[in-house]
Amino acid sequence: MELTLTVDHNLERPLHCQLYDGLREAILAGRLKPGDRVPSTRSLAQSLGISRATITQGYEQLLSEGYLQAVTGSGTSVCRELPDDAVRPAAFKPSLSGGSRTDERQHSQRAPKDLSEFAANLSIVGDFRCRSKAPFNFAEGRPSLEEFPMQQWRRLMLRHFRHGGPELLDYAGDPRGHRPLREAIAGYLSRARAVECDSDQVIITNGTQQALTLVARILVEKGDTVALEDPGYLSARYAFRAEGAKLNPIPVDTLGMEVDRLSKPVKLIYVTPSHQFPTGAVMPLARRLELLSWAESAGAYIVEDDYDSEFRFGGRPIPSLQGLDAAERVLYIGTFSKMLFPSLRLGYMVVPRGLAQVFKQAKWLMDRHSPSLEQRVLTDFITEGFLERHLRRMRTLYNRRRGALVEALTRHFGDKATVFGESAGMHLVVDLRTRYANAEVIRRAADAGVGISSIEQYYLRRAPANRFLLGYGGLSEGQIAQGIRRLAEAVR
Ligand SMILES: Cc1ncc(COP(=O)(O)O)c(C=O)c1O
Repeated sequence: MELTLTVDHNLERPLHCQLYDGLREAILAGRLKPGDRVPSTRSLAQSLGISRATITQGYEQLLSEGYLQAVTGSGTSVCRELPDDAVRPAAFKPSLSGGSRTDERQHSQRAPKDLSEFAANLSIVGDFRCRSKAPFNFAEGRPSLEEFPMQQWRRLMLRHFRHGGPELLDYAGDPRGHRPLREAIAGYLSRARAVECDSDQVIITNGTQQALTLVARILVEKGDTVALEDPGYLSARYAFRAEGAKLNPIPVDTLGMEVDRLSKPVKLIYVTPSHQFPTGAVMPLARRLELLSWAESAGAYIVEDDYDSEFRFGGRPIPSLQGLDAAERVLYIGTFSKMLFPSLRLGYMVVPRGLAQVFKQAKWLMDRHSPSLEQRVLTDFITEGFLERHLRRMRTLYNRRRGALVEALTRHFGDKATVFGESAGMHLVVDLRTRYANAEVIRRAADAGVGISSIEQYYLRRAPANRFLLGYGGLSEGQIAQGIRRLAEAVR
């Protein structure tokens, strides 16, 4: 096996990510073949002159993504079945005009010098998620796609194809999106989330990610400070960093972002108050009011990412920050990725009235508007009552799955497992006290066909040990019970 790995302490990309890049690239380029052993963490730490913990973190990511596998007694090797279906044996050539697969591999190369600052900042974006192939895959963020009412969706789509004229194929008039959809969303948000807005403030985006990119482009100048939750959502971090923001990680406790740890100056505060990502903390009313008043005094905007608040199981819903905001400082973001399906790439934002025009212009410049057909189908799906019906079903389903997961953890781990997070969402955080380090737990789990990930990657500061993220949205109750039993056996 010919393997040369290097890390560069001068790069902004963390060392464990550089290691991840190097190994992944070697696997994809065929320099490491399925079944090849990778160096032990001890020997690699010695040869690269970095800590074993850093090596372990890099390996952990590759294990959880299915590039590496651990075989008890014989160390860690390249998986026999790789997550990327088009592994090319020849070394790939970096090309900026290449397709997405080339781009994915791009971050392992040193970037050319003549790129924009934005492009140079993209070096921190990596780790494109590859779905683990584990049969019991507790990946977070995966809705139960099997339950999606495909027939209804198909029927609505066909209806538009059948009756739609050429206007369906033309550019849409308003970059903010199809007006009836914006009206339906404004109505839904007012009923379900106590959001106060009219349809002129609603902008249809290609998911949360485009909303975050728009916010970063419009409000963040190079050197501005953006405060965000730590641990927190990686893609928000990347979007702000790409614009040159300085990040100020604010710790999270059981009530969400610790508002008294915020400091001025700050341009923007990114929060997930209804179900903190990833800890699951729910910010109570008093802290919401404290945050709003602090932001007003600091002249800061708040970005409220309400990504999965539809899935609350019991307890009184707490009104959105947006609905409590009298100072027009909150930009509210929601998505259909969890409610419906992520490849739909439709989400929405509600912006303060004074910002509506500039967001409209930026959306036009970015991509004219989101796809018209899908927007129309979605409008019917909402106005004909399918959305709220689907959400009711899914709430019951996820609640049962969550119950099954907590029960299985209690049965197999007893007091060695502590579950964190309110009863909401599609994932939970668990403190699993075993005699193994995180990487070893993940390795053993993967070996037993169970995909789990550690919470470490979401921290900018030091992460607590033994903490794992378990998604349950995409697994049946039977799979959950069996998966946790296998996990317990694997780490016994
Ligand atoms: C905190 C958070 N926001 C938003 C999203 C959804 O992003 P998008 O709408 O771009 O699919 C996710 C998905 O996992 C998330 O974890």
